[in-house]
Amino acid sequence: MNHTQRKMLLRLAMISLGLVIGRFLHGEEPRETKAPAVLIGKRIFLDATLSRPVGQGCFSCHRIETAFADSRPVSPGAVKGRFGRRNSPSLMYAALIPGFAYEDLPTDDGTEIYAWEGGLFHDGRAGDLFEQVQQPFFDPNEMNLPDEQALASRLRESTYAAEFRQWVGEEAWKDDQRLNYHAFRALVEFLKEPMFRPFDARIDDYLKGKASLTPSELRGLDVFRGDGKCADCHLLDPTSWTGPLLSDYGYDNLGVPSRQKKDAGLGGQTGEPSELGQFRAPSLRNVVLTPPYMHNGSIQTLKEVLEFYNRRDIEPQRWGHTDYPDTVNRQDMGDLKLSDQQVSDLLALMSAFTDRSLLNCKDGEVFPAATAETPPTEEVRLYFPDWTHRKHPSYPGICDPPSPVLRPAAGLR
Ligand code: HEC
Ligand code: HEC
Repeated sequence: MNHTQRKMLLRLAMISLGLVIGRFLHGEEPRETKAPAVLIGKRIFLDATLSRPVGQGCFSCHRIETAFADSRPVSPGAVKGRFGRRNSPSLMYAALIPGFAYEDLPTDDGTEIYAWEGGLFHDGRAGDLFEQVQQPFFDPNEMNLPDEQALASRLRESTYAAEFRQWVGEEAWKDDQRLNYHAFRALVEFLKEPMFRPFDARIDDYLKGKASLTPSELRGLDVFRGDGKCADCHLLDPTSWTGPLLSDYGYDNLGVPSRQKKDAGLGGQTGEPSELGQFRAPSLRNVVLTPPYMHNGSIQTLKEVLEFYNRRDIEPQRWGHTDYPDTVNRQDMGDLKLSDQQVSDLLALMSAFTDRSLLNCKDGEVFPAATAETPPTEEVRLYFPDWTHRKHPSYPGICDPPSPVLRPAAGLR
């Protein structure tokens, strides 16, 4: 059995497991996790006193109205006048992004090629979610803390300090590094919560044979799979125990319009010239809710994104300069020759990618409700890409406290 066959077999096994779990859970009430890590993670996510100066938290740039992305092309930092250089991505399904890896991929003619896949951030510079959640705290253009000590001392003064201390125990509470480690783990556990992975969009119902799409959406789906070649990278098939993630998490240079300074993307991480300007394909789940688009927020509307894919190479003056013209993918996009009707059908299809639980959120709600069908983290823990880091190599000897350790204190939900 070669590697590809082994991978296929593993995927099949994972899909059947997912089905069993799905059936087992069907019809039950939504279960909200009360594990201390999740509750602490949620408090950290909503805490605006951890930044320097105070006033910014994760939620400042990842907001529910935009599926936990940011409607601004780039987000302002905690320090007035500072800005990041990339568009804040959605946190929905972020816990399912595979780890950064050089993968062998089967091609149509049966040969295999190697390519980078996965990783967090647009350029994959965080190997997994555990590595990712640490960076916003110390990024000068985000929460701007100088060091680990600054974070630990703020955590000790937080409004949830008592619960946090009870959870991690006295020894860890006094040790900056260990305390922060638990804060990062808590954020990861929080981002794994069922509400961030509901798979309850109309496309999910359609693919399960539970509902149909409108005629225009169905035509759009044909384009997505066929002439548009979208599904080559924004995968429609469930790839494991999950529903369709609408990304293969591979890297490409689409030649998007430049904004400010050149951004080397993946090439900046790997040092490989052919990878300059490549960025990770995002999931298209909830894409209607997350304008502006592309890693630098340079395209305002979804309609324009589709026009860009369709006609980039025949109307270059419309899109202007791109950072790395030499590595732009000119095979798979740029002159798709789609008709206006096909483009508007594709556009119609995009709204079938929006999760119902986000659409159902009412004004003032900070998080969506979890659906009954989504398995709780405990039951699918081993299938999250980060699970090997429960004992992180950077923190030898430290693993999560057994969970649940204590009943969470009242008021911590
Ligand atoms: C100032 C705005 C800002 C703040 C504050 C912020 N983020 Fe982000 N976040 C971003 C931007 C911008 C990116 C993309 C950056 C990049 O690719 O270089 C990002 C990327 C991410 C990603 C990666 C998603 C993906 O698809 O790769 C995750 C996960 C994330 N942030 C979680 C958090 C958490 C948790 C916090 C709080 C500890 C936080 N963010 C605070 C703006 C922010
Ligand atoms: C060869 C792989 C590939 C193909 C084919 C492809 N995409 Fe993409 N897509 C990407 C990558 C990579 C990005 C991110 C580019 C960036 O940020 O610079 C992206 C970004 C997007 C975005 C922006 C999402 C966001 O949140 O910013 C949309 C929308 C999108 N693609 C839709 C489509 C549609 C519709 C098609 C078919 C017409 C398609 N893609 C075909 C790889 C692909």
